[in-house]
Amino acid sequence: MVRKAVYPGSFDPVTYGHLDIIKRVANIYDELIVAIAQNVAKVPLFTLEERIEMLRESVKDIKNVCVDYFDGLLVDYLKRVEAKIIVRGLRAVSDFEYEFQQALANKKLYPECETIFLVTDSKYAYLSSSMAKEISKFGGCVKDLVPDMVAKKLYMKFRTENVK
Ligand code: COA
Repeated sequence: MVRKAVYPGSFDPVTYGHLDIIKRVANIYDELIVAIAQNVAKVPLFTLEERIEMLRESVKDIKNVCVDYFDGLLVDYLKRVEAKIIVRGLRAVSDFEYEFQQALANKKLYPECETIFLVTDSKYAYLSSSMAKEISKFGGCVKDLVPDMVAKKLYMKFRTENVK
């Protein structure tokens, strides 16, 4: 049986923190789907197509990782792709309460699913997509936070497209 895991997130944009989790999980499971979700609580900077492109480019050398997207509930997506494992990264204690709620809600909706937590590399414990966006927006250097191609896309958004 293929051991398949799903790593969901809004990835707006993907950071080195996400990539650290992706690489480590890819070593544990036979197949990892990085699934871009619409988080209804957030207004994304990048379109879904842009987020897919950045993620695909970032994971292109990892053979057992693919990128997909979904609307609606994560558990419905899991059922559709026949996966039962949800992967989440834990950065700090502050992540715990939200993750705890999500894991319990997902378990209630789909009792066969399990949420697996990986502790984020301490180098990225402070990092978030919003932080990378804010630093780039105000002209700071994001080269240690996101892949080069993402840094360029951020630059283009804030400088060329003049997004506020
Ligand atoms: N390294 C660096 N940053 C990380 C990280 C890591 N390892 N892990 C998380 N982050 C960052 C993310 O970039 C994100 O930053 P942002 O808030 O600035 O965008 C932040 O931490 C929160 O990440 P996460 O908790 O993964 O939120 P998300 O918006 O990326 O994903 C969903 C949340 C999409 C997985 C969740 O809303 C969902 O499952 N939605 C579908 C609907 C559903 O089924 N809901 C559950 C039923 S109750």
